[in-house]
Amino acid sequence: MHKFTALLSLALILSVFIAGVNTATKEEWKKRTIYQLLTDRFSVGGPNGHECNNLSNYCGGTFNGIKSQLDYIQGMGFDAIWISPVVENTDGGYHGYWAKDIYKINPRFGTEDDLRSLVDECHKRDIWVMVDVVYNHVGPVDTDYNQIKDFNKPEHYHTKCQVTNFQDTGNMEYCRLSNLPDLNQNHPEVYKTLSDWTVWLVEKFNLDGLRIDTVAFVNREFWSALKKETLEGRLKDIYVVGEVFDGRSDFINQYGSIIGGVLNYPMYYTVQNVYGRSESMYQIRARMNEQDAVFSDAGALGTFIDNHDNNRFLNIQSDWKLFMNALTYTVFGRGIPIIYYGSEQLFNGAHDPFNRETLWNKFNTKSEMYQFISKLVKTRRNFIDNIASSKQVERYVNDKLYAFTRGQVFVATTNVGSFRDQRMEFDVTYHDYAEGTTLCNIFFENDCVQVQNNKFHIVLNYGESKVFVPRK
Ligand SMILES: *[C@@H]1O[C@H](CO)[C@@H](O)[C@H](O)[C@H]1NC(C)=O
Repeated sequence: MHKFTALLSLALILSVFIAGVNTATKEEWKKRTIYQLLTDRFSVGGPNGHECNNLSNYCGGTFNGIKSQLDYIQGMGFDAIWISPVVENTDGGYHGYWAKDIYKINPRFGTEDDLRSLVDECHKRDIWVMVDVVYNHVGPVDTDYNQIKDFNKPEHYHTKCQVTNFQDTGNMEYCRLSNLPDLNQNHPEVYKTLSDWTVWLVEKFNLDGLRIDTVAFVNREFWSALKKETLEGRLKDIYVVGEVFDGRSDFINQYGSIIGGVLNYPMYYTVQNVYGRSESMYQIRARMNEQDAVFSDAGALGTFIDNHDNNRFLNIQSDWKLFMNALTYTVFGRGIPIIYYGSEQLFNGAHDPFNRETLWNKFNTKSEMYQFISKLVKTRRNFIDNIASSKQVERYVNDKLYAFTRGQVFVATTNVGSFRDQRMEFDVTYHDYAEGTTLCNIFFENDCVQVQNNKFHIVLNYGESKVFVPRK
């Protein structure tokens, strides 16, 4: 090769590296804590706005609104956000899951520049951005496919039928969920469009990760191809977390093992059972053991207590102390924690759309739960290298208590609740702290215990949870 041509090729190769995407991998995401929000419901601009009188339609939140409230998010220590889908939707698609034109940004939320500016501002603050994406379906147009840009031919869809059996993957893959036109991902045009669009979205807006909707409604061959060619290949192994709305670990792993990460719905049900319904804490041990055997990388699962598809925890039961325990468990337990917006203001909405409340007029950074979540998330962040490199190890369990360590961080939770004067006590034997180490509770700095003969004594009053870290 001519010397000049060689240099030119080298320059070209380098520029590709420099200009190319800078997506974040699974291992990097394991060190993040995610705040989940719906763009339409989070902020209209300043902290205040009109009350929304119809939660089934647009309420007015925007990308600029999110940008104006990043202090609020960062004040709790979060270093990642997951936002609802950003593409243009058919009428009424405030949630974003009803695509009309996947190459257009939803004008109700702002412009392309607004979205890019939000991501830029997040990156300046070292907050990563994960966007929700949908491959299964488009907006509800019955069979009037002309309304859908890029997927405007009948052959882009499966023949019209309805999903009626959520145990039957064939029915789920080929028929319509809630009568939403079901894309035929095996059609070469559909496959290519979805793949190219994914790259466009991530590169254009400099995204760090993706949350994938309705994964179990699309066949696994599609996910294998998308993972290999697009997510791994073209997008340098970007981390994705998929939604497989199912309580069976082996079932969600059929998808997680392909795409890398899925939401941990089985653990969600366990956390709800033990903290929300005061069932036996041994269920956590059982779930951990089961998932150890099923998942090759359970640390890549997204863990959560609340989201936009389920009644909020405080709707199921109203005792904040139980919610605090569930949050404590989720933030320090195995997986990538995802906290749903409004948890910090004690939102207690029921099923969709009531669990999609507006947050404006309620950005109270002094609230007890805002402060509590701040302590949890900031402590996770302060100890993140230790936590990320340490397994969740059970240290004490009975029907009402579950305690564990992640490296140097000791976590004690209970499900007795705050209503009775309950004093729970137990001894812990743990050899990894140096003799004489003083451990202090992150919620009350004078609440400390000393390690003697590799033992220490824990007391929980009125249903509280505690997190102990070594005193500096
Ligand atoms: C709320 O919005 C939905 C969706 O546009 C609409 O069907 C419904 O009639 C509205 N409800 C009220 C009370 O306006």
